[in-house]
Amino acid sequence: MKKAIEINNLTKTYKGKKGAQVQALKGLALEIMPGEEFGFLGPNGAGKSTTIKTLMGLIRPTAGDALILEERISSNSARRHVGYLPENPAFYDYLTAEEYLTFVARAFDVPSNLLRERVCESLRIMELWDARKRPMRGYSKGMVQRVGLAQTLIHDPDVYILDEPMSGLDPIGRALVKEIILDLKKRGKSVFFSTHITDDVEKVCDRVGVIVRGKLEALDSVENIVRKGIEGYIVQTRLGLGRHEALSGFEIRGTNETFAEYFVPAAAFNQFMSLAGHNSVEVTLVETKRKDLEAFFLEIVEKGEAR
Ligand SMILES: Nc1ncnc2c1ncn2[C@@H]1O[C@H](COP(=O)(O)OP(=O)(O)OP(=O)(O)O)[C@@H](O)[C@H]1O
Ligand SMILES: [Mg+2]
Repeated sequence: MKKAIEINNLTKTYKGKKGAQVQALKGLALEIMPGEEFGFLGPNGAGKSTTIKTLMGLIRPTAGDALILEERISSNSARRHVGYLPENPAFYDYLTAEEYLTFVARAFDVPSNLLRERVCESLRIMELWDARKRPMRGYSKGMVQRVGLAQTLIHDPDVYILDEPMSGLDPIGRALVKEIILDLKKRGKSVFFSTHITDDVEKVCDRVGVIVRGKLEALDSVENIVRKGIEGYIVQTRLGLGRHEALSGFEIRGTNETFAEYFVPAAAFNQFMSLAGHNSVEVTLVETKRKDLEAFFLEIVEKGEAR
């Protein structure tokens, strides 16, 4: 099976007036497998849209390569396998959503016997059905974003490249996009999407990459990140039973009449439990204390920016 995305040594330097230069990407390398959902996290100005525009063949890299399904996306035939949501989608706003989506379906050669069904389906999925006959100039920001998402689905591509798909959407819209991405995953599709909100990637991505100032500063599965983030455990014990003095080496976080709460570092957990067992201390509750993805993200960004 072809790799969904391949990014090799991708470098982009924007050249401004009077020789001013912005190094937007500095040797980025990344591979996305078929069927993988990938979250591309980074703060504002990190280089997410530059990467995505290069993937879509909209800007030319200074060095390196950006391939989708092992091809440079320069031809229309290659684009047919890709659903693309740009950063700030804007459409022919005198058209209605229905007219626009029909136009997109034709441009992607959706067979005529499927065309009507696909247009209706994508309008329904994005909850634009009631607005379908209104010109898009009267649409709210979130509705325009929904049209942008609908047009990525219309030709049922294998790879989705979405630049901030949740942007401008209300909580219901964000949840809807997550649902759509999970559904695409079930159907074996690959999704590469950018965001600066960790909450967006937590439930839907197999892996995340963190880009800071044009460099990939972290790349791992969400599962590993969360596991690595375990700092320790809060262990609750029942007072008045057993020899608590045996646990005096551990930090007490709080007590009341009935219980004591200890903070136990991850590495000392087994030792704590066996000490408790040997000294007849009853453990009533164990709670994992972990850094969340947000803390991980902020740490990586700080480190990257300090370099
Ligand atoms: N056309 C351009 N000319 C000059 N500099 C540019 C151009 N486009 C982007 N840049 C610069 O490249 C860097 C990366 O921008 P990019 O738009 O890729 O970031 P981003 O990660 O998508 O940020 P955001 O979260 O704000 O969308 C920024 O410093 C930006 O100012
Ligand atoms: Mg951007």
